[in-house]
Formats: sequence, structure tokens, C-alpha cells
Amino acid sequence: MPNKKISIGLFGFGCVGQGLYDVLNESQGLQASIEKICVRDKSKKRRLDAGRFTYDKKDILNRKDLDVVVELISDTDAAFEIVSTAMKNGVNVVSASKEMLAKNFAELFKLQQQHKVSLIYEGSVGGSIPILRNLEEYYDNELLQNVRAILNGTCNYIVTRMELEGKDYGEILKDAQANGFAEADPWLDVSGCDAKYKILLISVHAFGILLKPDQILNLGIQNIRYEDILYAKEKNLRIKLISRSEKIGDKYRVFVMPHFIDKSTELFNVMYEYNAVEVEGAFSCKQTFTGKGAGSHPTGSAVLSDISALTYNYRYGYKKLKKFMNGNGIIPDATKSLDIDFNIKVYVRFSNKSEIEKLEIVSIEEEYKSAKNNYIIATVNFKSLFHFCGNKDSKVFICAI
Ligand SMILES: NC(=O)c1ccc[n+]([C@@H]2O[C@H](COP(=O)([O-])OP(=O)(O)OC[C@H]3O[C@@H](n4cnc5c(N)ncnc54)[C@H](OP(=O)(O)O)[C@@H]3O)[C@@H](O)[C@H]2O)c1
Repeated sequence: MPNKKISIGLFGFGCVGQGLYDVLNESQGLQASIEKICVRDKSKKRRLDAGRFTYDKKDILNRKDLDVVVELISDTDAAFEIVSTAMKNGVNVVSASKEMLAKNFAELFKLQQQHKVSLIYEGSVGGSIPILRNLEEYYDNELLQNVRAILNGTCNYIVTRMELEGKDYGEILKDAQANGFAEADPWLDVSGCDAKYKILLISVHAFGILLKPDQILNLGIQNIRYEDILYAKEKNLRIKLISRSEKIGDKYRVFVMPHFIDKSTELFNVMYEYNAVEVEGAFSCKQTFTGKGAGSHPTGSAVLSDISALTYNYRYGYKKLKKFMNGNGIIPDATKSLDIDFNIKVYVRFSNKSEIEKLEIVSIEEEYKSAKNNYIIATVNFKSLFHFCGNKDSKVFICAI
């Protein structure tokens, strides 16, 4: 649809939806108009005329005159329903719902191929950072080795403020919630789950491997204390929640966990709510993209860029994913390519030994005991870290070295 005015059906008018509205209003280059906005709560006061809104998804999905459906809602199941119905109707879709995309990727991929429509979702990973299309297109010709990224602004904001203000996790979290940097229920962010959905999508575009969310280890910052930050600080290190996707021979390691980071990497200087993606290729060496990883206007601008890409019929080519598909249209199970049986050096802080009995310790390099706390620096079997993944009862803090 080059040079044509684009008609948009928008789902969601929250943080990102309103950001898109503002960014679109300021945009000089793109001729686009939001024809209808579908939201959920009839009692909410809106900044636009009531006539712009609907509460019935069919008012958008049944229209024949729309070029794009833009899905920016907070309900994962409803988002999948909306996105898949639009694609079945032959309409291109832009989405920022990483959880919905990560949980339903295989089905969404199939629908794109079957109905020859485009589904693009740059805003779902790294907010304003243009990373997915870069991984898909630019790094296609590069021997990619690994991607290491700070993908959750809430976690980075919390650890930054803990370090700079010398305060404990609970106090900073409360403040972050009051200032809009953390959700009332912060679990999805602080447990590393949100970052996991994002590294899953990155792995598709970086290496062409599709994993299921529960195959990816996510350890978060929910148990971090100021003393952990202090331990790092004394060694000129910082703690960051790092998402990793890397190729080791013909296998891949994909996981999310806190890491001690030293000054030699640019990730060290990524503070507060900022995100960063470091991409390492055999010939390009390390390149780092940084920017606001969330928020109304940064994410809205990524969504706008996707809408704009549709004007020149852009769609992800999934060239790397298709390489593994043997022409039969089915995405192979990536379990065989996933390496979870390796050893990793970690810092583990715990109160009593029974809390870490499921950890397979290969060797201990350093051990510290006090009345309040214990920590070890140890090499452990990576697989055994899954015992701590998503475990709300565990109070153990684990950080890769
Ligand atoms: N916030 C960010 O910085 C950011 C960044 C990247 C990606 N994302 C993703 O973008 C999506 C939207 O996030 P957000 O922060 O904008 O959420 P939000 O501020 O909570 O707004 C959510 C919007 O979705 C609407 N909604 C929820 N369920 C609906 C349903 N079943 N049908 C129609 N509308 C429905 C809500 O309607 P009401 O207005 O009636 O409540 C609201 O307008 C999420 O998937 C999120 O993960 C967010």
C-alpha cells in the first residue's frame, strides 16, 4: 500500500496505545488514521470523544476497510484471539504483546504463512530499540555468536537505585511502583519472566530457533538484597538482569538471570529504566543498541515504525527459522538444539543449607558464613538451577559470575 493513507483499527488505549496516538499525531511522514479504538472498561474517562471507541472487538475485526489491526492490550488470551482472527481475515497486524507472541508463536507463524499476511512486533522487545528487524535482516549475513541484553526496565531501574542510593529491594520496589516504574503486581518483571518472553523472540530472529517459554530458565531479582549489590560494588562490578541467547557449536544456550557485570562491557553503564542489546558476530565483533525499553512514547514509536514498514509490504522473512524447517512448513522442536547440561559459575546467597540442597554443586571456590547470611561462589550444573525458576517460596539469590 505505498503512498496510500493507512486505516488503522486499534486495540488498547493504555500506556502504549496512547503513546502510539501521540506519536502518530506528531508524525510528518506517515499518512495514517486510527479509525476505531477497542477498549474494555466502559466506565473509564477517555481523552478522546466517546465516538472514537468501541467495546466490541467485532466493530474492528468485521470491518473490510481497514489496512492494519494494531493490538496493544494487556490481556494475553484476548490478544491472541484478536490477532489470529485479524490474520485469518487477511489483515496485517502489528502487536507489542510479548507474552502473547512468545506463548503462541508457532500458531502465529503458521497463520502468517497460510493467510499470507504480515505480523510484526518490534515494540514487544526493547521498547524503542530497533532490534528484531536488525537481527532478522542485517545479521542474516553475519556469523552471529551471541546476544546479551538488558530487556527489563523495571529490574534495571530497581538495581540501579539500590546501588546508587544504598537501599534495600523492598523500599526501592515500593517507590518504583509509586512512580510508575513497576506494576502493582511486579512478579512478571522481577522474576525475569517478561525478559524470558523477549529473549525467546530474539532467539527466533537471531538464530532461527523457537523455544517454548518453559524451556528457558528465568531467575530474577526478586530475592536481591543490598548486601548482594555491596558484594558486587566492592569488586567494581554491577548486578544486572541479563538475557542471553548464544550459539555454542551446533547448540544454543538461552536463559535469563542476574549477572555480575564488569566495566569492560557497555551493559555496565546501562542504568535506570534503559535497556540494551549487545550483539556479537564473528566479524562485526560487539555492537550495542541502547534505548528506553518501555514507556508510552518509546514503545509507541516502535509500533509506528512497524505500521510504516507495512506501507512497503514488509514482513519478517524468517529466513533463519525456515532453514531448520526442511521445506515442510513445520517448525522443528528446538529441544535437541538447546544446551542445558553445562556448568556455570554462580554466587548463591541463602539463609540455610536446606534451601540449596537441590542445587548440583560441582565445586566451591569460596564460602562465607555469618549469623544472618551465607553465600558461596560455586560452579554448579546449570540444569539444577531450574529448581529455583518461578519458585515464589525460594528466598535464595543466584547471580552468574
Ligand atoms: N507499557 C509498556 O511500556 C510496554 C512496552 C512494550 C510492550 N508492552 C505490551 O503492550 C501491551 C499493552 O501494554 P500497556 O502498558 O499499554 O497496557 P495498559 O496501559 O494496561 O493498557 C491496556 C489496554 O488494553 C485494553 N484492554 C485490556 N483487555 C482488553 C480486551 N479484552 N479488549 C479490549 N481492550 C482491552 C485496556 O482497556 P481499558 O482502557 O478499557 O482498561 C487498556 O486500554 C501489553 O501486552 C504489554 O506487555 C508494553
